Amino acid sequence: MKTDEFLCCADELIEGQFSERRFQSEGEIRYLVVTRHRGVAKAWLNVCPHQGRPLNWAPDRFLSDDQGNLVCAAHGAVFECDQGRCISGPCKNANLRAVAIEESDGQVRILPDRTLSA
Ligand code: FES
Repeated sequence: MKTDEFLCCADELIEGQFSERRFQSEGEIRYLVVTRHRGVAKAWLNVCPHQGRPLNWAPDRFLSDDQGNLVCAAHGAVFECDQGRCISGPCKNANLRAVAIEESDGQVRILPDRTLSA
């Protein structure tokens, strides 16, 4: 039976800032993009639904627009941070793949029913 797994300390997720986390799932390394949005911790696979590329332009470096949306560095798809839905760009209305997390006791943990298959 799988258990939840530590992702990061809660205070590492800063409102409006995006960062990358490496996570091992069933022997495979996965990369996540994490943030805090309206006080809520968010995590998605760091895979753009347009062409499957990482969203960042350098390790742990992400673009955002003036409204705080996440912008893919490859072709400029813009993702809102409530649901991870693309609101502009070549994959409009596609969604980032959310990873189920829970924040408690100063920790952010990935829940056992996480979706990490890319
Ligand atoms: S790979 Fe992200 S917009 Fe093309």
